[in-house]
Amino acid sequence: MVATWGAILYPVLRFLRPRAATASGALEVVAPFRVKEILQAKNNPFDFGGKPCLVVLTPDGAKRLAAGQAIQADDLRAFNAVCTHVDCTVKYRQENGDIYCACHEGIYDLNGRNVSGPPPRPLEAYVVTLRGEPGQEEIVVSKQSPA
Ligand code: FES
Repeated sequence: MVATWGAILYPVLRFLRPRAATASGALEVVAPFRVKEILQAKNNPFDFGGKPCLVVLTPDGAKRLAAGQAIQADDLRAFNAVCTHVDCTVKYRQENGDIYCACHEGIYDLNGRNVSGPPPRPLEAYVVTLRGEPGQEEIVVSKQSPA
């Protein structure tokens, strides 16, 4: 009888318990799309050291991109896309201007702060730098602050 209850309750408790923040081993990765491709990128999130990495173009950045103006690194945000609740992968909702976890309707703002639903902590934020000629910039995501 105890084993039966254990078998039933363990997966439920495991599902509900928040887990520690994750950390990937890689220090830097180049996104598999360029700045000008970000709004159509199907491979976002992409792999960063074994974890999904989500790059978000802010609404102001989207306006600049649409107007053909230069994008700055501040117009982009990058996060470990593993939800801090129970490890589902989050996605960017451009129409809502937020980052959403469909598993339990968790919501983060574009700074990665948990603002609604069960996520107990912000998303792990990465540093974004741009590399290359204007209009052809690569997006470099790293775990370290630029020097
Ligand atoms: S895994 Fe539960 S809200 Fe993301």
